[in-house]
Amino acid sequence: MSTGHQTLKLGVLGSGSGSNMQAILDAIGNGTLDAEIVLVLSDNPEAYILKRAEMAGIATEVIDCDGYVTRFPDDSQVAVGQMLRDAGVDLVCLAGFMRIVKAPLLEMFPERLLNIHPSLLPAYPGLRAWGQAVSDGANESGCTVHYVDAGMDTGPIILQSSVPVLAGDSAETLHARIQLEEHQLYPAAIRKVWAKLQSES
Ligand code: GAR
Repeated sequence: MSTGHQTLKLGVLGSGSGSNMQAILDAIGNGTLDAEIVLVLSDNPEAYILKRAEMAGIATEVIDCDGYVTRFPDDSQVAVGQMLRDAGVDLVCLAGFMRIVKAPLLEMFPERLLNIHPSLLPAYPGLRAWGQAVSDGANESGCTVHYVDAGMDTGPIILQSSVPVLAGDSAETLHARIQLEEHQLYPAAIRKVWAKLQSES
């Protein structure tokens, strides 16, 4: 976990499509992010994030959650932390990962676990934040990259970006607008965190 080497090594955890993981890969590909994704992990063996990673030649693993549908058992968290450490990961990015990370994994990557959330936190934590914004009649929403702590979407904010909620927006049209912002924001937040870690080392 040293910051001595030049290229930042990222591990990504996701449960779904992986468009944010793809955006990070694209930023690496176009030279705006000096990093390498070395391992992609998913709790869902069918998740498209795994396919995307395989197509990009990145190592993948399915996380064994002991049969639990939503829980992230402590022993699974330790196993994930060990895989990430073995891969030499410097920073862990949650990208649409739908289980709550708790102490075992947090303690293995202190201040090195980031999450992207589709709202302007602290507004609309939790599930389907874009749907919450539409139901609430908000006229603005957005996305947040934050450090992960033991709460739900409560960790210190790294960067945020706002988008308007337009008249006639459905949850889906708002989410699509938010995702375009997410794809810019996550690489920028990774650059910011890595620059800070390097300046401290
Ligand atoms: C993203 O919009 C992300 O912000 C959200 O899931 C989507 C994953 O998309 N995460 C959460 O809601 C976490 N609470 P992706 O798989 O295409 O990156």
